[in-house]
Amino acid sequence: MGTTAELKLEGKPYELPIIVGSHNEKAVDIRKLRGDTGYVTLDSGYENTGACQSKITYIDGDNGILKYRGIPIEVLAEKSDFVETSYLLIYGKLPTKVELSNFSRELTYHSLIHEDMLRFYDGYPPSAHPMAILSSMVCSLSAYYPDSLDPNDPKQVDNLIPRVMSKIRTIAAYSYKKSIGQPVMYPVNRLDYCSNFLHMMFAVPSEQYEIDPEVVKALNLLLILHADHEQNCSTSTVRIVGSSDANLFASIAAGILALWGPKHGGANQAVMEMLEEIQRNGGDTDAAIRAAKDKNSGFRLSGFGHRVYKNFDPRAKVIKVACDKVLAKMGVNDPLLDIAKRLEEAALNDPYFVERKLYPNVDFYSGILYRAMGIPNEMFTVMFALGRLPGWISHWKELKESNERIGRPRQIYTGPAHAEYVPIEKR
Ligand code: ACO
Repeated sequence: MGTTAELKLEGKPYELPIIVGSHNEKAVDIRKLRGDTGYVTLDSGYENTGACQSKITYIDGDNGILKYRGIPIEVLAEKSDFVETSYLLIYGKLPTKVELSNFSRELTYHSLIHEDMLRFYDGYPPSAHPMAILSSMVCSLSAYYPDSLDPNDPKQVDNLIPRVMSKIRTIAAYSYKKSIGQPVMYPVNRLDYCSNFLHMMFAVPSEQYEIDPEVVKALNLLLILHADHEQNCSTSTVRIVGSSDANLFASIAAGILALWGPKHGGANQAVMEMLEEIQRNGGDTDAAIRAAKDKNSGFRLSGFGHRVYKNFDPRAKVIKVACDKVLAKMGVNDPLLDIAKRLEEAALNDPYFVERKLYPNVDFYSGILYRAMGIPNEMFTVMFALGRLPGWISHWKELKESNERIGRPRQIYTGPAHAEYVPIEKR
């Protein structure tokens, strides 16, 4: 196999280097294309564009494989917890006992947000979507750490990483408390990362809150499965914002906003709303399938389809099994799980979905688990953001360490070649 590709433009041949990844995935390196030929490539939606070389996450979409730092997601889901997986993603290796305990301690002792920030919540109407609150609060954090914002100072970055992870968890839980009119519950240092989040979400000052170990386990699982997914829309956003030397808080806030859209992380909320609608209409899944196939309906089956997976999303497989197990252990019988299973079966047997290789994605079953834990629909995308945090951080860190240039795509201009300025009275 050659190490270059040949390209002929206007009769003139050019040689382009071939880059090969760890799993033999191949790319044509076009970094010098414009300089050498005057041409750019056009790839809106970036379906064929590798934006970077990365050592963090590997996906094989045709075979349904997902690995973090080389470790299959199914193994991490079974053996790891969210804090350890976060360390793996961010620092590139599984932590030793000491490293893990130091990282956990850092997460524990940086969980408070500045007391003044609590007043910000009062400015939002009760109907505010928690993603709107989360993104602006995360960006506001940068106002409180003026001495730790230099993205090119590794010491400052190292200090900031556990703070970002810990405080965003607190902000997320406080957003929920504010939305239901309950007092915020401060973090409790004796609790682990996930238990502490559940305590901040569900405890009230007037009574003891018992943390259910099954719920803690399920939360760890969901956060691990969401922790990274290489160059998806929000992670690419974090990288491109970070490439301008924007600080970590600002870059993460941008990622949160990208995640909010229903074609990305917002799909988990949309799935539950879709299942509830089907339930209200008597459980008729055929109508939803018909609408999803009708291009004029504007409706898509939420939680189905993926840009990269043209086979089962391995995360969806793990979550589906967990749904059955966890709901049974918790004694929850959710009719939406049956509707989801019927909908999945109908879609997987329908030529429209088969031909287009549309399978359930990570969001299809995750909402059912979150619902069983007592987490409301509006918080689902916030939960996704909590899970995706270590992924965003690790990509931002990798970008900074690789000294990549600012992200700045080109375009092909198709507007008028020349236009006259017409004075306003003559238009
Ligand atoms: N329901 C019905 N039809 C669909 C669906 C769906 N969920 N997804 C894709 N299609 C159809 C498209 O209409 C298109 O049909 P056509 O070839 O006849 O025009 C074909 O399948 C290909 O779809 P694209 O939109 O071109 O695929 P793309 O890779 O751009 O989009 C996406 C992927 C955004 C995930 C899409 O499948 C979708 O909108 N799914 C629903 C939303 C969702 O679940 N998002 C979560 C993704 S996972 C994540 O972000 C964590």
